[in-house]
Amino acid sequence: MNINILGIESTCDETGIAVVKNGTKVLANELATSISKFVKYGGIVPEIAAREQLKVIIPTLDSVSRKVPEDKIDAIAVSYGPGLIGSLLVGVETAKTLSLAWQKPLIPVNHLTAHIYANWLETKNAPEFPLVGLVVSGGHTDLVYMQKHGDFKLIGSTLDDAVGEAFDKVARFLGLPYPGGPHIEKAARNYKNNREQNPFPITMSGKENLEFSFSGIKTAVVRYVEVNKLRLSDKDIAKVAFYFEEAVVESIAARVKRALGIYKPRSLAIGGGVAANLKLRNKLGELCVDLQVRVHFPKIEFSVDNGAMIASAAYFVGKPDDPLTVQADSSLHFT
Ligand code: KG4
Ligand code: ZN
Repeated sequence: MNINILGIESTCDETGIAVVKNGTKVLANELATSISKFVKYGGIVPEIAAREQLKVIIPTLDSVSRKVPEDKIDAIAVSYGPGLIGSLLVGVETAKTLSLAWQKPLIPVNHLTAHIYANWLETKNAPEFPLVGLVVSGGHTDLVYMQKHGDFKLIGSTLDDAVGEAFDKVARFLGLPYPGGPHIEKAARNYKNNREQNPFPITMSGKENLEFSFSGIKTAVVRYVEVNKLRLSDKDIAKVAFYFEEAVVESIAARVKRALGIYKPRSLAIGGGVAANLKLRNKLGELCVDLQVRVHFPKIEFSVDNGAMIASAAYFVGKPDDPLTVQADSSLHFT
């Protein structure tokens, strides 16, 4: 029997609505983003993000409904957190209303869980259990161990900044627009003379745990620019971006290598906005070849926040009877 789930994502500045069949086949996928509003602020302004959610959620739903009508939908799933409270409420209240009006079950979904489940979308190569999951986003840097669907053991997390946050803060310091990740990646590509020793620390490498830390690299970037009296020419920016990106990728790879050594999974499944980074993809890809672990990255459109990943997670781990409690707290991890 086929099950079509409508997934709604509204935790931050993206409004994603999608319909996914059996957790894997995307029948419709619409995304509206208010990211351009935040370029001048260098980061998200929660009040503006919530207002933008309000503006676009119904038109986005409308576009999806034109592709897949109500009578083809079996359940409504919505991301309940972690996220910004104002943004979350828009998606959650829309989902509750649809569930009531259409008389269809409502399935609450944890946003971080959904980033892992993005790896089941539109692929012939779905992850296999046991797996290690890595979520690298603007708000989280988490390692999780799963022996089966819905079984999450948080095995590592960041002690300070999330990796995407570090990309965004360093980009802002270098005068690059928000969101910083793609701009750092682009600037780093312009650095040709890459034979020097990396001036930035590979944080946490060698530590006997699975924790991450990125605030040290960020501080090192600021100090490096000050000590070397860099005036942040395009050449300076390219160099700093190159070595910062390299240090971050090396730091993540060292932690992942340790996790794969301890847990010996069949698959490594990566999700979250930073999973779009090519250097990270290549480095973790090489690591997995060496360790004979299957590596999984979602398509770029499913790496960043989107409604399809919410619908997929709902299909595989959803509990329609769970009371829907909105969780804005960023200390919430996998459930
Ligand atoms: O998962 P996501 O879309 O939203 C959150 O749940 O946070 O992740 C957004 C984060 C931002 O910090 C952004 O700078 C980062 O992902 N990002 C990247 C790249 N694309 C997006 N970081 C590094 N390289 C990229 N290509
Ligand atoms: Zn996210």
